[in-house]
Amino acid sequence: MNQRKITIAIDGFSACGKSTLAKDLAKRLNYVFIDSGAMYRAAALYCLNHQLIQNGVLEKEAINAQLKQMAIHFEVIDQELHIFLNGSDVSDAIRQPEVAGIVSIVAAYKPIREKLVEAQQKMGEKGGIVMDGRDIGSVVFPNAELKLFVTADPEIRVQRRLAEMKAKGILMNRDEVRENLAERDHLDSTREESPLIQVADALVLDNSHLSKEEQLEWVLQKVALLVAN
Ligand code: CDP
Repeated sequence: MNQRKITIAIDGFSACGKSTLAKDLAKRLNYVFIDSGAMYRAAALYCLNHQLIQNGVLEKEAINAQLKQMAIHFEVIDQELHIFLNGSDVSDAIRQPEVAGIVSIVAAYKPIREKLVEAQQKMGEKGGIVMDGRDIGSVVFPNAELKLFVTADPEIRVQRRLAEMKAKGILMNRDEVRENLAERDHLDSTREESPLIQVADALVLDNSHLSKEEQLEWVLQKVALLVAN
């Protein structure tokens, strides 16, 4: 049966499993998965590589002048989403602590957001997409049929991020991770441009004590109700 393809917007705090959920959902539904955070991380890497951020301060004029030259795109390789910055696969590089340390400053800058949001909206034009981030239900896809706001206990998020980094061979200090998550959550929620908010029509999913499979089943039930209507 050819079911209606909807748009699923997933927002929430750092390291609460949004991307894992979005990826699992897209796989089960045969939808496109887009990790919008990876795009902001790639933009942050661009700024680092081109000395466009010094001591946490953006070189705004230089960024404006170079923004057209910053090219970010996704490719699916061996069923995994890879992100490219000006032709180079930066999927691993964007997960480095140096990028995590500045990404929320870069993501708060309006011209960068405008460029990336335009690209995100284009990718979602035809529906059948699961995108996760901070402003997906509020700005990128305000008409998404399903909006989720994911939360988890802060210490559980720290634990998950540490394990994720360890699996990538990056050993991090627990206090450093805790600090980075708290700082990004603060910056992301209080910035002027498209702050992280829980929109009124979002369903809240606290996955602190849910497994990957349990959270997936919870959302699939909501999707089944929506596409049946
Ligand atoms: O994976 P994690 O939860 O640590 O973060 P991410 O999804 O990779 O996003 C990295 C950063 O990009 C966030 O802390 C935000 O500053 C920014 N971001 C944003 O501003 N808007 C989005 N739609 C997605 C991410």
